[in-house]
Amino acid sequence: MCGIFGYTGSNVANNLIFDGLKRLEYRGYDSWGIAILKENKIHQYKNIGLVKKDKDLEKLPDAKIGIGHTRWATHGGVKKVNAHPHISTEKDFTIVQNGMVENFDSLKKQLLKQKAIFKSETDTEVIVKLVEKEVRSGKSLKQSLITSFKKLEGRNTIAILDSKQNKIYAIKNGSPLVVGLSKDGIYLASDSLSFSPYTKKIVVLDDYDMVEIEGKNISIFNIKTNRKKKPEIKTLKYQYEEIDKGKYDHFMLKEIVEQQKTINYATEYTLEELKPLLEAIRRSKKAYILGAGTAGFAAGQIGYFLRTIAGIDAQDVKSYEFRSYLPIITSKDLIIAVSQSGETADTIEPLEILKKKGCKIASFVNMFGTTISRMSDYEYYTNAGPEICVASTKVFTAQSAWGYLLAMSLAGKHTTAHRRLKLLTKSLNSLFTPSSFDYLKRMCGVLKKSEHMFILGKGENSFIALEGALKIKEISYKHVEGFFAGELKHGVIALIEKGTPVFGIIPDDHKDNENKDIISAIEQVKARGALTIGIGSEQYSKLKIFDYFIPTPQINSLSSIANVIPFQLVSYFLSLQLGNNIDKPRNLAKSVTVK
Ligand code: F6R
Repeated sequence: MCGIFGYTGSNVANNLIFDGLKRLEYRGYDSWGIAILKENKIHQYKNIGLVKKDKDLEKLPDAKIGIGHTRWATHGGVKKVNAHPHISTEKDFTIVQNGMVENFDSLKKQLLKQKAIFKSETDTEVIVKLVEKEVRSGKSLKQSLITSFKKLEGRNTIAILDSKQNKIYAIKNGSPLVVGLSKDGIYLASDSLSFSPYTKKIVVLDDYDMVEIEGKNISIFNIKTNRKKKPEIKTLKYQYEEIDKGKYDHFMLKEIVEQQKTINYATEYTLEELKPLLEAIRRSKKAYILGAGTAGFAAGQIGYFLRTIAGIDAQDVKSYEFRSYLPIITSKDLIIAVSQSGETADTIEPLEILKKKGCKIASFVNMFGTTISRMSDYEYYTNAGPEICVASTKVFTAQSAWGYLLAMSLAGKHTTAHRRLKLLTKSLNSLFTPSSFDYLKRMCGVLKKSEHMFILGKGENSFIALEGALKIKEISYKHVEGFFAGELKHGVIALIEKGTPVFGIIPDDHKDNENKDIISAIEQVKARGALTIGIGSEQYSKLKIFDYFIPTPQINSLSSIANVIPFQLVSYFLSLQLGNNIDKPRNLAKSVTVK
């Protein structure tokens, strides 16, 4: 959601900002804009739709300093006039913003009374007007920004291009902001991935940090503590020169296939590296695992592994539903936060509250230097590389596999876990053969005619049913529901009609009675005319109850991680046949930084 990119230095800012915004595209946006500064004059370009070059953009003069923004509409529709940057009346500064001004209404009413004139419907323009008012009262732009920023409620991060002093200012609160230090100049962005080709040296800003960038220099001042801060420079482990699709037509398929490697990258941790967290789990009264969406389902998988393999009292909680747990969570409990972006507002909010309660926080995040990892006492990374497709695939299996490694390590089986995970990734290639793809494509040709589909899972595959359904609905826009198989007879069966597709996940490593339950559930829907699809152990492919069957590798209690992959592939091939935008599905953002 919304992305900020800025540059000052010796190279041409126009191209760097344009390329930076392209790399921020994955976060989701509906309009965008660039402002550059040439000879103390601000030149702006805004557009709706995709970040792409046109004659008007090319008309901007080459400059050495500028800011850019990708907008995800909150206040005001998707219109050019609402796109950022928003320039001041005197055209002496221009602002981009990530987040939401929660007291927008009351601030705007006050400003309107004072005769402020608004051109857009955005909350960002309210910030512009507040700053203008302060400047008119005689304050410097810097002081005006500080005074105005303190009036904003909610999580807001802003960047300002100052035409008089040739500077960029930025203030962070909530939404992420990272500075990149390179030989050619200074980069400023919502994530380090967007300037990854130019530098590995970063400074992550904390809430209420104000950064002042002039030429190749930065200074940081915290507006809450009123103290100057020495920039804490970190060096990233990985640098990504190009973020491209390689031989694939879509990032989604590339990322699905990459799981043959990324599951191992996420679980390379040695016992020594895991030790601090393992000890914290052992010491804790209870482990709560928090996440939202796909990461919430991964939290479910991690909880399942911790309970069943290691006998740990572990409970997954949807991060946005944590409040009912507040009365029972104490400082003796451990919180494990799971997140791809590390910036999900729904997950950050409980962490802030629980940290204040004295709980220790562990996190498993894909992006480096993010808010969630910086809040954590135990910081671990998925190491899955950039996940560009909005729908999460490789990060989900990385998170689940890490949970398995944690649980096995707690149970004294760290080496066995590594061996099994390697075996799993080696055997995944059976899912990626041309004949397997052809079979799935044919099946999707039938599925695309249905508007409703259901997925049944049990035990280790309960959350796989939910994640499988989310994956398909996100991109195909079909109504797909995942259920714990036990729910079927308690109500869900009423939905089954002739031809309704029903997936049943059936591994071979469940206790017999669990598979009997799945088989009987499939028999019941089959008797009502459902089109049945089995995913799991090949031994069940012979059963007459399945119309289609997708065999998956079965490696002890790891088959759930393999079982989610056919759902990812069904989501991909189905959406391809439906002609949908696979990497950027409608209405969705990769990084959900607002509540
Ligand atoms: C779905 C998906 C989302 C995210 C959720 C949390 O494919 O990616 O459901 O899992 O928005 O995001 P992160 O993992 O960044 O905390």
